[in-house]
Formats: sequence, structure tokens, C-alpha cells
Amino acid sequence: MIALSLAEIAAVVGGQTYDIPDPSVQVTGPVVRDSREVVPGSLFVAFRGERVDGHDFAPAVVAAGAAAVLASRPVGVPAIVVEDVQTALGALARHVVTKLGATLVGLTGSAGKTSTKDLIAQVLQRKAPTVFTPGSLNNEIGLPLTALSATEETKFLVLEMGARGIGHIRYLTELTPPRIGLVLNVGSAHIGEFGGREQIAQAKGELVESLPSAAEGGVAVLNADDPYVRAMASRTKAKVVLFGEADEADVRAENVRLTDSGQPAFRLHTPSGASDVTMRLYGEHHVSNALAAAAVAHELGMSAEEIATALSEAGSLSRWRMEVTERPDGVTIVNDAYNANPESMKAALRALVAMGKGRRTWAVLGKMAELGDEALAEHDAVGRLAVRLNVSKLVAVGGREAAWLQLGAYNEGSWGEESVHVSDAQAAVDLLRSELRPGDVVLVKASRSVGLESVAQALLETGAEGEVAAR
Ligand SMILES: Nc1ncnc2c1ncn2[C@@H]1O[C@H](COP(=O)(O)OP(=O)(O)OP(=O)(O)O)[C@@H](O)[C@H]1O
Ligand SMILES: [Mg+2]
Repeated sequence: MIALSLAEIAAVVGGQTYDIPDPSVQVTGPVVRDSREVVPGSLFVAFRGERVDGHDFAPAVVAAGAAAVLASRPVGVPAIVVEDVQTALGALARHVVTKLGATLVGLTGSAGKTSTKDLIAQVLQRKAPTVFTPGSLNNEIGLPLTALSATEETKFLVLEMGARGIGHIRYLTELTPPRIGLVLNVGSAHIGEFGGREQIAQAKGELVESLPSAAEGGVAVLNADDPYVRAMASRTKAKVVLFGEADEADVRAENVRLTDSGQPAFRLHTPSGASDVTMRLYGEHHVSNALAAAAVAHELGMSAEEIATALSEAGSLSRWRMEVTERPDGVTIVNDAYNANPESMKAALRALVAMGKGRRTWAVLGKMAELGDEALAEHDAVGRLAVRLNVSKLVAVGGREAAWLQLGAYNEGSWGEESVHVSDAQAAVDLLRSELRPGDVVLVKASRSVGLESVAQALLETGAEGEVAAR
């Protein structure tokens, strides 16, 4: 964080200082909510959770060097006491980002936020110091904490913004107002909670509504291939930059293909030049993510060549997203168990088939959550696609949705043991342990709540016969 005194922080958050002998003491170090992350100069934010109360850690964090605690009651050690810790944290972030002099990039969408944020960061880092959301900490607490980790040197601050309802993105943009706002897609994630796709579009579009005008430098980066996102152009005063495969897109991909190893390759076109990209990431859904990142980087002054090189060298910074591991016996495990939706299921199956040319391919799939009324049709479609793509073996894992998936495959013409339905992760592991042969490629994918990474991990621990946790 940029250095601020305890007195300044108290003024910014409207808090009372308690047990602070010297209010001119500076907070220099990170603002943290986890007591294990405290270092000298930190500000520790005490949240009261259901099981753990951060206030209980106050003496320990001050002993470890924290300058003070941001708390909702006096704790007997230096503290800034406020009515609501979350509101105060937001106010502090708001204050700090206005002092930073960094360009703020905010991004949202139904799927691919973290993957794209990691790509943007890896591209922008080549130009100037960049701070970005670690992992997927995209909510009202993770976002201000990330913003507060920026320093005087930071030139770009890239923030993932998540929403589970109307008003959430607006709240986040008020804490950290982006100059560049990117909307990736309006898919089906959390469709149940939102109440429909229109509502999701309404919520995600709050990002572009918050942007400054074009004259003030505001830029809305929108997916030209997604009609819900494309339509958001009418909800912003910012300059609109379109990315996608559509002809009208300002930043486009041409000649998109998957290499034999399942990695996307394409020619990147920007308004100021073109260059070839071959990604290290797996799955064609990354083309859209890469174009989004390219559009942001181009707006920030990078050339097509610089962007293409950065995209071609970018790796996966977050776990369980098409994580490819080769076993010593030549079995390849593709762990994409972080999450799943209809679009990414299809992209992952295509990547599996591209990687598995001439090899046996296994798709170990579980349910895609929160699809509302579309659940049956979408699971059926994934099962059918597995057969159409000629995946060698489909293992559907879990309850009702897995049964729909397997039935889709069966109805599309899979026969015998080409597709099976097993009840849980342990059963999938038992089956795969006895059936896998050297050279096979195994994709593991389902929604987060299924926790199928346990299958990938068990398969990687060759020989270990431990129990697999099924959630
Ligand atoms: N452009 C995309 N379109 C559809 N699916 C995608 C796209 N990019 C990534 N995915 C899929 O979505 C899953 C989650 O990706 P990622 O973590 O990047 O998304 P997210 O939007 O950050 O998710 P969360 O809401 O959990 O933060 C990945 O496992 C991948 O399969
Ligand atoms: Mg995320």
C-alpha cells in the first residue's frame, strides 16, 4: 500500500483511534484479513465470521508487527474502530486508488474472468508494473484488499469483479472506479440466483455504466460475439472497443485453429497491425479471453507484436483450469475441475480430442450447476457432443445431471462401455485405475461444487490407493 499514517486512515474511514500512542505511525505494509499474512507495517482488518472472530487475533497481529487493527470494537491494542469494517475497507480502497496514478482495468463476465485477468496481467506486466487480483478474489472484500496492495510504482491495476445480483458490480466500481471496463460474456453461471440472462446482462453492464466518458479517457471493451454484451455499447459514455471473431470487431482473431496439442493458434488483428499467436493454454475458449486481453493492452499502447508475444508465452496462473500433467507411464491428465458451464464443457471436449489424436480419450464429467430450466437440455447436449467428437470413453460422475449427460451420449449412439454413469468420485477413480493404459488422455471437469479435482489428483498419485473425497 502507499504509506498512510494511522491518523490519515482514521480520517478517511471516519473511525475512532483507540490505544494508539502515536497517530503519525505509518501503515506501509499490506492490508490483510488473514493474521498469517501480517508483516511489520501491516494494517490488519478484523472481520467477524461465523466461526472465527478476527478481533481475537488483535494482540497477536500487533505483536507480529501490525501497525494497527481496523476493528468494530476496541481490542486493547492499537486500533481504528469503525461501525462497519467492510464499509471502512472500501472507503480506504477508494481513497488510495485516487492517489495512485495507476490505470484501473475492471473486468467481469459469466465465465473466464480469472483466466482473462491472468492473461491481461501477463501482457501488461511487460510494459509496466502491474498489480492484479490474486486467484479469484473478486468480491467486496477481495477487491479492496487487492487495490490496497498497489504501491507508488504500480502503473496498471487489474481487478476481477464478480456479481451474484443486481447492484454488486456497481458497488465494486464505486470502490475502485475503472477507466477501462471489460465485459467478457453473459452466460449461464448463477442464472438461478439472477433470475435469467437479461438480469445477468443488466448486472454485468453496470461496469460500463460506471466508466468515464470517452473524452475523459473511458474505454468499454465489449465482446462483439455475445449479443448481450454487444448491446451494452448503448449503456456507456465511454469509447467502445469490440473484440471477437465478428467482422466488425476492432480486435479480431483470424484463422483460429487448435494445434495437435489442443492449444489455440490464430492471427491477431488490432487497429494498428497484426501478428500470430500460438497459446500455451489449452482450449479454444481462450481465444476469446486472449482477444479481450489484447484489446485492453492495445488501448494501453502496446503493439500487436508485443501483445502476440506476451499471449503466446502466457501460462496458467490459477489452478485446475486445463492443467495438463503427464504421468510417468504416458497417461495425460487434463484437470479442468475448477468449474464448468456449457460453453467451457464444449471447449474442453474439443481440446481433449485435439490433444488425443491417435490416442484413447476419456472425458470424466460431472454436473454443470445453476443452469435452471436449461439443465436437462445442456447436460444432454454435452453427452451428445462427446459422442459426435468421438471421445473414446465418457464417464459421467454423480447424480441426476450425470445421468442426463450419459443418456445424451447413449441416445446419440454410444454403445457398450463407451459411456458409463458412476455414482461418485471414488467409483470414477476405481474404474479409471483399472482401465487406463499408457498413452490415454483423461479430461476431468465439472462445476466447482462437485470437487472433481479429487479424481485428477488421485489419478496423478499413481499407485496410491487412498480414499477420494467426494463432495
Ligand atoms: N471465455 C470463456 N467462455 C466460457 N467458459 C470459459 C471461458 N474462459 C474460461 N472458461 C471456463 O470457465 C471456468 C472458470 O474459468 P475462470 O476461473 O477463468 O472463470 P471466472 O469467471 O473467474 O469464474 P468465477 O466466477 O469462479 O470467478 C474454466 O474452468 C473454464 O473451463
Ligand atoms: Mg474468477
